[in-house]
Amino acid sequence: MANCLFVVLSLSSASLCHGACVEVDSDTDAVVSEGFKLGCISCKMRGEVPAEATVEWSFMPKGESEFTKVREVRGGGQDDIPDERFYERLDWNGSKKTKDLQDGSIYILNVTWNDTGTYRCIFNRTLTFTSYGFHTDVTKIVHLNVVPRRSATATPLIIQQITVNDS
Ligand SMILES: *[C@@H]1O[C@H](CO)[C@@H](O)[C@H](O)[C@H]1NC(C)=O
Ligand SMILES: *[C@@H]1O[C@H](CO)[C@@H](O)[C@H](O)[C@H]1NC(C)=O
Ligand SMILES: *[C@@H]1O[C@H](CO)[C@@H](O)[C@H](O)[C@H]1NC(C)=O
Ligand SMILES: *[C@@H]1O[C@H](CO)[C@@H](O)[C@H](O)[C@H]1NC(C)=O
Repeated sequence: MANCLFVVLSLSSASLCHGACVEVDSDTDAVVSEGFKLGCISCKMRGEVPAEATVEWSFMPKGESEFTKVREVRGGGQDDIPDERFYERLDWNGSKKTKDLQDGSIYILNVTWNDTGTYRCIFNRTLTFTSYGFHTDVTKIVHLNVVPRRSATATPLIIQQITVNDS
């Protein structure tokens, strides 16, 4: 009986600790000439384990068939915007001042019709246990529509694929 009570108590405190990160789907309708937040959140499965993550965003314009990298943010360091289409138009809305990125959201300033297309966000995370690193990749896809003005409802269309492997 005493053991059961202990288990219940530790489970409930664990879920409280993990309650801070919530994976909200991105909006998908951007209004032309306004700003737009492309959301990408990947919560750590083990909140207490130290981790380091890299977020890579790629863009495939509508009608094209290949992704090109538009932003890569390495937790606690390097941050590149390698695509001139987004030069001075892409702000970071994700986790700040940490290697342990869980929010990888970006913000497009002054959206144009040309921003219509598919955005891919890849979280590359390494969890550090005492004797080994555990590697996960999470990919989220956002199909972005550019609209002339704000509509009442937007239906998020998100496809998530997770691969987990030891490294
Ligand atoms: C996202 O970035 C935009 C542009 O820099 C800024 O205005 C906005 O406050 C940011 N939002 C969050 C939640 O960081
Ligand atoms: C946004 O882009 C449009 C068209 O490219 C331009 O006319 C406008 O001045 C820009 N607005 C801002 C705030 O940069
Ligand atoms: C959109 O793309 C077309 C064709 O590539 C280009 O001519 C035009 O300048 C682009 N517009 C903006 C606002 O980037
Ligand atoms: C993820 O990061 C690790 C360590 O930085 C690297 O070895 C691996 O190639 C990366 N994987 C992908 C898919 O980018």
